[in-house]
Amino acid sequence: MVTIGATSRAKEDFAPELLAVALYRGETPQNLGDDAAGVVSDGDFGGKVGETALLYGQRGTAPRLLLVGLGERDLFTLEKLRRAAATVVRRARTLGLQSTAFTLPAVPDAMTRDIARTVAEGAGLGLYRFDRHKTTAENQDLETFWLVADEDALEEATKGAELGAKVAEGTVLARDLANEPSNVATPEYLAERARMIAEEYGMELDVLDRAGIEEEGLTGLATVGRSASNEPRFIVLEHRGGGDSAPVVLVGKAVTFDSGGISIKLSAGMEDMKFDMSGGAAVLGAMETVGALDLPLNVVALVPATENLPGGGAFKPGDVLQMHSGKTVEIVTTDAEGRLILADALSYARRYEPSAVVDCATLTGACVVALGDHASGLMGNDEDLVAELQTAGEATGEKIWPLPLFDEYTEQIKGDTADIKNSGGRKGGALTAGAFLKEFADYPWAHLDIAGTAYGKKGNAYTTKGATGVPSRLLVEFLLGRTR
Ligand code: BES
Ligand code: MN
Ligand code: ZN
Repeated sequence: MVTIGATSRAKEDFAPELLAVALYRGETPQNLGDDAAGVVSDGDFGGKVGETALLYGQRGTAPRLLLVGLGERDLFTLEKLRRAAATVVRRARTLGLQSTAFTLPAVPDAMTRDIARTVAEGAGLGLYRFDRHKTTAENQDLETFWLVADEDALEEATKGAELGAKVAEGTVLARDLANEPSNVATPEYLAERARMIAEEYGMELDVLDRAGIEEEGLTGLATVGRSASNEPRFIVLEHRGGGDSAPVVLVGKAVTFDSGGISIKLSAGMEDMKFDMSGGAAVLGAMETVGALDLPLNVVALVPATENLPGGGAFKPGDVLQMHSGKTVEIVTTDAEGRLILADALSYARRYEPSAVVDCATLTGACVVALGDHASGLMGNDEDLVAELQTAGEATGEKIWPLPLFDEYTEQIKGDTADIKNSGGRKGGALTAGAFLKEFADYPWAHLDIAGTAYGKKGNAYTTKGATGVPSRLLVEFLLGRTR
């Protein structure tokens, strides 16, 4: 990844190939020379969100000046700044540059550290691309990105830059894992990546293989993974930074390929089901950042990982399973597999006596129908936890929206032969899925349905087509909130 740091203009060796300056709508650039003032006064640059103007022949700091718009000053959000930073680094890369600097804007009511963090995040995320399977090289990556701060703000800017870079790095890992095709990103591959995180940051790792999963009684995971020749794994990664305090447990669905199983999906678009492990990817990405920041918390990541494939030994509609918790589940459709593996992870989580458990999963198409690809669905059994996550969503720009878990949805999944069934039908599909999970959570718990947000057909300023890394930044922000 690009090296991100903070500097003050006074530093002698500071000679970026491009200096970017963010401007609000209608604002006249100060101390940037006549050309910059002229571009604005001639109406060629108005400071609208996403607007840019590139000027050459600058004397002083850098040979190129890039103006980038932040929109109306009164309507400023950190998300707009994140996008502006991403726009800058993408332009620099297109120009084939190696170094770029960005002058931290003055932002009403925001702290230098948050501004710097946001700019660093935008830069780190904006440069992301998934090209490791391409055999022809694209243009080279930007090597260094400097945040330019006033001398008296440099310390805070440096801290913010470090934080933002580490957050971006975790998100990049989440994107990489999710973008990998399922012939690469197998359950064992995810376990191996978890091992790398554990080794780098001194975390505890336990990986259960098929035999271990069966022995532990993780029936949902064992059953979904039964007919796959890439064996399932149950990944347990523990960061111990919080002494004796009760841990936060993060659970991520990692179905490395969801064909639907015997209840097989239509083939159109099925290739996207390689992304059905995005929840697990986001949790591992968040853990990467947790380790890099060495957060003073106990955080446990649980990632049930499996393929969902048809086969002679596959589970079938009508089957009844006794889950890890002891509850029995009747299979209505083998395509509602995510809730089965999550349910086991949720009941496994009990042993930690957690202060909170947050699961994230590409769980239902119904959630995509409800919220589109703009927001993840949020459900839970604890108002405070739900509010914490909403705050984290607002801070990170990873939008989430609350959905209800009324008792009626639980009614809807009452079983005929077993305690409950794994589908409540088409109506309220995201909510009956949430109600199903709720049956296995007897601690403060929240669920994020990321089916619409974890990957997309088109990117924005700092995401590309494919995996977005959602909700790894949100999870990190939520954890950071618990350290304050
Ligand atoms: N992985 C899918 C959910 C999904 C659908 C994610 C579309 C992303 C885009 C999940 O396992 C699934 O198949 N859910 C079913 C549940 C239904 C059969 C009760 C669904 O949403 O159709
Ligand atoms: Mn499915
Ligand atoms: Zn699935």
